[in-house]
Amino acid sequence: MFHIVLFEPEIPANTGNIIRLCANTGTQLHLIHPLGFDMDDKKLRRAGLDYHEFAAVQEYDSLNAFLTKVKPARIFGVSTKGQKYVHDIAYQEGDAFLFGPETRGLPEKVREDLGSEHVLRIPMQPTNRSLNLSNAVTLLVYEAWRQLDFKGSI
Ligand SMILES: C[S@@+](CC[C@H](N)C(=O)[O-])C[C@H]1O[C@@H](n2cnc3c(N)ncnc32)[C@H](O)[C@@H]1O
Repeated sequence: MFHIVLFEPEIPANTGNIIRLCANTGTQLHLIHPLGFDMDDKKLRRAGLDYHEFAAVQEYDSLNAFLTKVKPARIFGVSTKGQKYVHDIAYQEGDAFLFGPETRGLPEKVREDLGSEHVLRIPMQPTNRSLNLSNAVTLLVYEAWRQLDFKGSI
């Protein structure tokens, strides 16, 4: 229903949590290389993932390769530097959400290419730096899915 795109993720445990989240919410997960780990990393496997959960993950050499293959109707960057709030968007089936790497965030060039109307931020206390990547992904997937009345869930 939605696409989660992790741009050059670095920490295997975060990606492991996100693989499980995507399997549980019917969300497609896309990983943009280079990754900071191998897909058979023990820390990634420790999230207790089943084979079918791994099978749904797609990998790409670049963001352009993802865009060319999937052609999402809309793509939103998710960044602490976003100008719009995640709760101000009316989400639609097929929307794609692009998250930055844990230590660097989404590169400025990627944010510029998306345009300020398409870069979203999650509210935080002003003195704090950022949320954990997997927490940020969870929050957004559930907000978007909630808006569609949790279509397909039990
Ligand atoms: C640990 S954060 C990266 C921190 C990086 N220093 C920055 O400022 O973007 C990893 C990713 O989680 C997402 N994220 C974390 N907190 C966020 C927030 N408050 N608003 C939007 N995205 C957030 C973004 O996609 C970010 O690239």
